[in-house]
Amino acid sequence: MSLDEPKGHIGFTLNGDEITIPSPVTARLSEVLREVAGAKDVKVGCNAGDCGACTVLVDGAPVCACLTAVGQVSGRAVETQSGLVAGDVVAQRLARSFQRHQAAQCGICTPGMMVSAVALLRSGQTLDEARVADALGGVLCRCTGYRKIIAAVLDASESDPVAEGGVGARIERLDGWPKVSGTERFGDDVAPADALSVMVIRSPYHRAAFTFGDLESWREEAGLDLILTAADVPGDNLFGVIPGFIDQPVFAVDEAKYRGEPVAAVVGAAELLAALPPFPVTWEERPAVLTPEDAAKADLLHPTRAGNVMCRGYVARGDAAGAMKGASVRVSGDFSTGFIEHAYIEPEAASARRVGNRIEVSCCTQAPYMNRDGLAGILGLKPEDVRILPTAVGGGFGSKLDLSAQPYVALAAWILDRPVRMAYTRTESIATTTKRHPSAVHMEIGADEDGRIVAATFDGVFNTGAYSSWGPTVANRVPIHASGPYLTPNYEAKSAGIHTNTVSCGAFRGFGVPQSAVAQEQLYDMLADRLGIDRLELRRRNAIRNGEPTVTGQVFETGMGIDACFDALKPEWDRALAEAEAHNAARPARRRGVGVAGGWYGCGNTSMSNPSTIRAGVTPAGEVMLHQGAVDIGQGSNTVIAQIFATALGVPVSAVTLVGADTDVTPDAGKTSASRQTFVTGNAARLAGEALRAQILRLGNGGQGAEITPAGDGIALTEDGVTRRVPLPEAEGYALEVVETYDPPTLPMDANGQGSPYAVFGTAAQMVELEVDMELGTVRLLKFTAAHDVGRAINPLLAEGQIEGGIAQGIGLAMMESFIPGRTENLHDYLIPTIGDVPAIESILIESGDMHGPYGAKGLGEHCLIPTAPAVLNAIAHASGARIHHLPATPDRVRAAILAKGH
Ligand code: FES
Ligand code: FES
Repeated sequence: MSLDEPKGHIGFTLNGDEITIPSPVTARLSEVLREVAGAKDVKVGCNAGDCGACTVLVDGAPVCACLTAVGQVSGRAVETQSGLVAGDVVAQRLARSFQRHQAAQCGICTPGMMVSAVALLRSGQTLDEARVADALGGVLCRCTGYRKIIAAVLDASESDPVAEGGVGARIERLDGWPKVSGTERFGDDVAPADALSVMVIRSPYHRAAFTFGDLESWREEAGLDLILTAADVPGDNLFGVIPGFIDQPVFAVDEAKYRGEPVAAVVGAAELLAALPPFPVTWEERPAVLTPEDAAKADLLHPTRAGNVMCRGYVARGDAAGAMKGASVRVSGDFSTGFIEHAYIEPEAASARRVGNRIEVSCCTQAPYMNRDGLAGILGLKPEDVRILPTAVGGGFGSKLDLSAQPYVALAAWILDRPVRMAYTRTESIATTTKRHPSAVHMEIGADEDGRIVAATFDGVFNTGAYSSWGPTVANRVPIHASGPYLTPNYEAKSAGIHTNTVSCGAFRGFGVPQSAVAQEQLYDMLADRLGIDRLELRRRNAIRNGEPTVTGQVFETGMGIDACFDALKPEWDRALAEAEAHNAARPARRRGVGVAGGWYGCGNTSMSNPSTIRAGVTPAGEVMLHQGAVDIGQGSNTVIAQIFATALGVPVSAVTLVGADTDVTPDAGKTSASRQTFVTGNAARLAGEALRAQILRLGNGGQGAEITPAGDGIALTEDGVTRRVPLPEAEGYALEVVETYDPPTLPMDANGQGSPYAVFGTAAQMVELEVDMELGTVRLLKFTAAHDVGRAINPLLAEGQIEGGIAQGIGLAMMESFIPGRTENLHDYLIPTIGDVPAIESILIESGDMHGPYGAKGLGEHCLIPTAPAVLNAIAHASGARIHHLPATPDRVRAAILAKGH
């Protein structure tokens, strides 16, 4: 404390302004900056020094504000992202460069990245990739794969980003400036200052019975406002996402079924919650089952689900057993993967307030309407009495489809009629929110002597945890995709989701397909090796083509582009193989390998209606408004949907004003998942743009080719060199308005899984070059080349960003990630790829078009990581002979596999 600070106060300079604020000297600087000084651009991702999201400059040097006591900055200068971009020319250049390169996707890591980069840029050092990676190495990003961040720092110049362009243009992210200037507001940033806080009381055991003590006396003694248990839920004490599988209680009753399951919640002032006496609950630990094998013979988690089987999936075509017997070559194997944590840098957060007989919930979500309906059921309200106001989302990848903090803040705010907030701690986020399903797969593939696939059988068991979440989607989707994007005339694939006493598994980029690809794509390499056929050639030979049936009997006459993806890799493949061979002859201790894998993914829900609706209007003043409810979680839907709409309407994208997601004002554009937004909502936007254009042309008596110009005080129409004003009707709201819906054409599947589950598949092929240290088992990635058939790239820059981010997550799946309940519940025990783990990535965009997609576009989000892990594993095997069956391929496992091969 400096001498002129009042007692109990700390004085320092914040972004150039001298401030003195009340705070204990030991308070976290991050907390004080956010909650007292209002610097919400300082983000909190872990409170443990692991993520770097809270990075600020103190006297010019980057520090983690969550590990800095506010007393340490007394009398010193603190700078944050928003202050830097407002007043520092270096930071302003950097912000523009971040926009130019789309280095911010969700934007939650961007403050930490930019602040660290400003310190580096100010140092005047000569920059190269290694120096940038070193300076930014303490900041984690889960979205971008880091490559565009590095490029943006190296290219921080005066140049401006591309601001204008329709379909096909590499324009900047339309919602990007708030992310790069520090004004974006995420889940916890919008909590009202006077809100009470919620803390959830959770089971410390995988399975335990529990009884409460005298809750009311304890509450009074603790000075809290409210305790919530199952008895306080006015509606259904249940939530979930799939009809027939709504099985997760808001609060457990009598028995908790997984470690971290909520049993109660306490509500009060934040400072009281930070120092509570022990909650009056008595636990009786019970035997728990953590694996599907054990679950088969254990007590039922759900009384009607025999054998703890949540559900099964099945696809059969031809005579798999007979054809397998007749195959010239057969390969088979067992493969497994563990729980994978989403590890978005923004933990779940929500706040709620009661407005009369309605409840309003602000939250970071991927599914506003599903959240609305879920909360209505819990609160016993009509859906229209619940309003969801999505904030910016700091990464989702599937897990923010499900409810997390929302029920607790909504219940408390409803009962108390006071604003209430909650942000998950990092441990809470990792331990209790949905995971990628652990998988155990047995697969066999047979081929003729030319390497043509004749049969494949697949049996996959998925640990779905205590409750269903999106488990049924995984169980249904996997058998449709487990053949990979290859012609497989005889096929039988089974899957089962099994309940255990673990955290629920749900949606995570790929919905089980990345796990099945780990088995199928490794077996393809084994098949190629047995047959002596080049591994890329084997895949090209079997690539499913237009006019050929998938394993569900669906035939696409256009748009099946996997052969083009493999063809695009061929020159790099030949180069890389030659280089690896030369390298290995000279350096046998560090052997190079090249791996390849293909992948496919059906966009949207499986054989189910999944419509999106877009509303658009023109104000009497001629302003074009686009009500775009497809939540942008960093993937770029705000930009892509606007580009599609603007193109269809025939106006510059800068003429379109976006109205963001809000269940009161934007219609339901469905959930942001399953790579559906570009395809499904994009189609709705195209229809809306075309319909609005037709209205304007009709009103202005214009021909098809007339040019529409929003003119500030109306709409102008130019035709044959003549410009005239469109007579817009007088109106209170919009002068012109359209609402358009698109629902992809799919057909149900029969008992053998035959049918047309998706209107479109996107396909991809990736190759990787790497080096294996034969003594240590360590793997160094050198380069990825990724060819993706996106149908039509609406915004190629965004598409590249998706590919790079997906590859980074695939690297994590392949090489380092595995969540262990009760053990790896933070970001220093659960490791995700850092800036040093992602090598150069070359993206090749294939535009094969699609008959249903808007301007031919397909979805892309899930596809990007599906081939990554098997490509890495195939490259490790190529380099070292070590075939990794059980992920992740950590050095000890790689070394063990090398030793098992006798090296
Ligand atoms: Fe400070 Fe993660 S919040 S390092
Ligand atoms: Fe880096 Fe989302 S942009 S975490």
